[in-house]
Amino acid sequence: MKLTLSVIKADIGGWVGHCGMHPDLMADGEASLAKAKKSGLIIDYHVTKCGDDLQFIMTHTHGVDNSEVHEMAWNAFKSATVVAKKLKLHGAGQDLLVDAFSGNVKGQGPGVAEMEIEEREAEPVVVFMADKTASGAWNLPLYSIFGDPFNSIGLVISSNMHKGFKFEVHDVKESKKITFDCPEEMYDLLVFIGSPSRYSVKAVYSRETGEIAASSSTQKLSMLAGRYVGKDDPVCIVRAQGIFPAVGEVLEPFARPHIVEGWMRGSHHGPLIPVAVREAVPTRFDGPPRVIGAGFQLANGRLVGPLDMFDDIAFNNARQQGLDMADMLRRHGPFEPHRLPLDEMEYTTLPQVMKKLQHRFESI
Ligand code: F6R
Ligand code: MG
Ligand code: MG
Repeated sequence: MKLTLSVIKADIGGWVGHCGMHPDLMADGEASLAKAKKSGLIIDYHVTKCGDDLQFIMTHTHGVDNSEVHEMAWNAFKSATVVAKKLKLHGAGQDLLVDAFSGNVKGQGPGVAEMEIEEREAEPVVVFMADKTASGAWNLPLYSIFGDPFNSIGLVISSNMHKGFKFEVHDVKESKKITFDCPEEMYDLLVFIGSPSRYSVKAVYSRETGEIAASSSTQKLSMLAGRYVGKDDPVCIVRAQGIFPAVGEVLEPFARPHIVEGWMRGSHHGPLIPVAVREAVPTRFDGPPRVIGAGFQLANGRLVGPLDMFDDIAFNNARQQGLDMADMLRRHGPFEPHRLPLDEMEYTTLPQVMKKLQHRFESI
């Protein structure tokens, strides 16, 4: 049976400010998805949250980019937005960029990561969800998981991973894509994905069988809307075990927090800190950025889980390191490299300030 795993998320109102998710929105999302399950449109679902983002994890048999599934998710976000508006939550409905749904949530605001698979005898998957960052945040971990033997020893000693993986990379500014065969083209790959504000790893495929191994959301909301409307706070699905890296290899890159864009006003760099779902409530300077991992075994489309993957003392050092990195960056205040380069910030006063002061600039 061909099974589709769809993760669709949106920020439709924060509680309090942009920090968390009100339980009434989750309850409304649950009710919408329960109805969709009862109607047979989806097989199973799990509703969760990461910071101020409402997350729908769903299984069905309709393939990726399916308009009925996307429309149902869109309507569920719309319905929860009504609740958010009643509670006067912050930025109610902010990620629903158009008034009417038109076939596919891609390009309309919600973030989406999907994959169609043939469910294996045992099918472990991890759904990563992040808040206060952007889609390029997955580049470094996906590279580590599927390309770096110092992270994934399976690339060296497991015969079914030894051929390596294919990386599909999207240029989010020019809407173009290219695929790299690794390990041979690793240096070429890194030229691009080392610049995650422009190039994002969209998907990874096994070179052993051609099967999809990972799929991420690559929307850049600020560009979709042509103005700042919120961060794209990305999601990513990763399959594990067998021809794919082990669950432990999939989680391992997050034990070494890296710096991503998206903290305060989408205009600052900060460490991506791995936390349990209950700790994904970014209140310090609206951050620092968080990542959660929901693990499932799939059983004929049933989502057996979640297991809260970062709820493990083994990630305590990573959390501490992340907090130390956050302190170090905060010390820079409005200076780079904490603040993003001028043309990357999601909020800017540069045009107004420049206009006001233009006549005072003299040649030197
Ligand atoms: C939003 C975020 C926040 C906001 C900030 C200002 O995801 O990261 O840092 O950018 O709180 O929000 P507004 O402009 O809504 O007052
Ligand atoms: Mg928000
Ligand atoms: Mg968010």
